Amino acid sequence: MHGPRGLGDGRRVEGFMPLHTQVDASIQDDELDVNPVYVQELGAGIPRYRLPAHGMLPRTALQVVRDELILDGNARLNLATFVTTWMEPEAEQLMAECAAKNMIDKDEYPQTAELEQRCVNILSHLWNAPAGSQATGCSTTGSSEACMLGGMALLWRWRARRRAAGQDAARPNLVMGSNVQVCWEKFCRYWQVEPRFVPMVPGRLHLRGAEAAAKCDENTIGVVAIMGSTMDGSYEPVLEISQALDRVQTEQGHDVPIHVDGASGGFVAPFLQPELEWDFRVPRVASINASGHKYGLVYPGVGWVMWRTPDALPEDLVFKVNYLGGEMPTFALNFSRPGAQVAAQYYNFIRLGRQGYQRVQHACRDVALHLSAGIAKMGPFELLTEGRDLPVFAFKLRDDVAGYSVFDVSERLRMRGWQVPAYTFPADLTDTAVMRIVVRNGFSMDLANLLLADLRKQVKVLEHHPQTQPPPEIQHMRESFKH
Ligand SMILES: Cc1ncc(COP(=O)(O)O)c(C=O)c1O
Repeated sequence: MHGPRGLGDGRRVEGFMPLHTQVDASIQDDELDVNPVYVQELGAGIPRYRLPAHGMLPRTALQVVRDELILDGNARLNLATFVTTWMEPEAEQLMAECAAKNMIDKDEYPQTAELEQRCVNILSHLWNAPAGSQATGCSTTGSSEACMLGGMALLWRWRARRRAAGQDAARPNLVMGSNVQVCWEKFCRYWQVEPRFVPMVPGRLHLRGAEAAAKCDENTIGVVAIMGSTMDGSYEPVLEISQALDRVQTEQGHDVPIHVDGASGGFVAPFLQPELEWDFRVPRVASINASGHKYGLVYPGVGWVMWRTPDALPEDLVFKVNYLGGEMPTFALNFSRPGAQVAAQYYNFIRLGRQGYQRVQHACRDVALHLSAGIAKMGPFELLTEGRDLPVFAFKLRDDVAGYSVFDVSERLRMRGWQVPAYTFPADLTDTAVMRIVVRNGFSMDLANLLLADLRKQVKVLEHHPQTQPPPEIQHMRESFKH
């Protein structure tokens, strides 16, 4: 699904959906293989890669497409993704009713815009924006776009500061752990910002304060702190990073803001760790993003980004759209975008309330802790995290286990339908191969116990049938999981 890519520094990171290319001429005229029941109705085949000359009945088209899609995985058994795979029927109905609403069309759909405004306000409270700060935010297609907007605001502010001081603004850099999600590497490449990665080392699997501070200089537009890490679900210590940056300011005079990438944790920490200071309670936190479609419990594509104060978001990034005879400020990479996800986010907020979100996230954590404890007890595995921050944990094979790898375990679990990814860590831990389990709403204790039983069984099989290393191209495919 994802091709490898170079980072220009010798590292290879997996991660982009493929850019599709025109298929080979020898198969351009291929036809779809259609169920014989429909052949009579169609009268002709359906070209696979070209627009058919004629249409067909909706029922036929529906069946043809459905027949292809049955090969997609079973989302409920997918423990790889952070993205919501189940919503209740009422939410699905609401989304279907809103499918035609265009989020940008504030004039035609003022109430959808109103729901977005309410969601932004709800999140600003949830993330402890100071009263009267006029925290400002918007919805996006997901965290990637939200991070892009957060990063742009940091870049624009840094440039403006440098230019106002008559200083060179040609070499911006962004400081982050090598465990960042690929969207930050995209941001750096697209906006020509130097990425300054703090590598992972044994015993430190994410960014810490001292290491972040050591990478900062006058060209640092900001530090990204992740709540929590895509690699293992752990939270980066935002307060500790902030305190280290306070020292940078005192000692070197560089005032470096923090953007918190709360893609998952933005909807978890307020409910599971309300005392943890990671949000706007930390004065150096300028902006925060989260994915509504992860632990916000909405189907894909909705994200959120919020700035502590309006001046954390430079004016010249904001465009105005006509709105009921007036003007509405917008900041987005897209123009048209579905409104259904925003309506569904608001639905979840009023449907669940604080207590409901707490219940859901607590249940996920209980299942994650139960699973990680069961896996730790099994024998061959060693936990890297337990699932106490996000309900997400990573584990590896103990160093003395020989004869099979986590890739073999992952493959064998797939035979039963479970998708538990195996992958290698980024720099400097590329020799460490792990598996990761993301517990989402709907993954029950019963399913967890079934998974444990299957895992036990598969380990036993592997212990009795040592595996040989597959050819390099197959090994490469096995390792190309993308977060
Ligand atoms: C920490 C982090 N940031 C950003 C993203 C990108 O989020 P999205 O898929 O919503 O674009 C992810 C996705 O897993 C993530 O875990």
